[in-house]
Amino acid sequence: MSYEFITVSIDETVGLITLNRPKILNALNLQLVDELVAELERMDRDPAIRVILITGNEQAFAAGADINEMAEASAIEIMKRNQFAVWDRMSLISKPIIGAVSGFVLGGGCELMMNCDIVIASETAQIGQPEIKLGVMPGAGGTQRLTRAVGLRKAMEMLLTGDPISAREAWQYGLVNRVVPVEAYLQEALKLAKKVAKQPPLAVQVIKKSVHKAEDLPLQEGMDYERSGFYLLLASEDRKEGMQAFLEKRKPRFTGN
Ligand code: CAA
Repeated sequence: MSYEFITVSIDETVGLITLNRPKILNALNLQLVDELVAELERMDRDPAIRVILITGNEQAFAAGADINEMAEASAIEIMKRNQFAVWDRMSLISKPIIGAVSGFVLGGGCELMMNCDIVIASETAQIGQPEIKLGVMPGAGGTQRLTRAVGLRKAMEMLLTGDPISAREAWQYGLVNRVVPVEAYLQEALKLAKKVAKQPPLAVQVIKKSVHKAEDLPLQEGMDYERSGFYLLLASEDRKEGMQAFLEKRKPRFTGN
């Protein structure tokens, strides 16, 4: 498939998606988000890919939704676009998504980052939800995922002032996993992606889903969900291989079956 606003490559079993509208700081227009989600879904189906990595460039992961597309449109026009339906499809991706972010990570950019399962940030990243400064509010999860991630008070401060926080502060609040020098953030994210890609793929996907359930379900329901996943994985070939390899003191060869 050919795209206008993203580029796509593969490194071993890691699928790499790069947002590519550098002149306007990777502002997320409708077409870019459509392309991104189409490629995420394609990679999710591609057996050659085990982990997906999303990145931008050093200056910007993404500076938010494209304001040009919103500025002149009426409320009804924007409602009819139903533009967030495509965002909702991101949370159905079963393979892990690693985010490698640098520079501006604002508005829809922050919401996209929060759709990633693990995030490596460059120390230059500025992360925030500035929608309030435009007279609006986030629409792709900014009030919901941010609050779950950093807690009510910090989310309230970020959303009501619109001011970004530094990568280091984001790390202190658990919003990103690791902060590394700008020269290293992409390599570090790729290294991590390759490490996860070596794990048994079925276990990776079941664990991903189960961890996300922890945000949605009451504890006992979450425990029940976890247990079903545990029993399911006991039926996999990779479980046999993983345990056999342990007993034989050798490295396992996981096939995803
Ligand atoms: N949409 C459209 N264009 C954008 C953009 C956006 N979100 N962010 C930056 N740009 C464009 C600028 O208009 C500018 O274009 P020109 O060169 O053609 O003038 C170019 O990118 C470079 O930007 P600046 O000159 O402003 O660069 P700067 O370094 O001075 O400032 C910035 C950088 C602080 C990120 C500033 O550009 C900015 O505040 N951008 C808007 C951020 C924002 O409000 N994002 C939220 C959008 S709403 C949203 O995301 C809703 C949602 O929940 C889905």
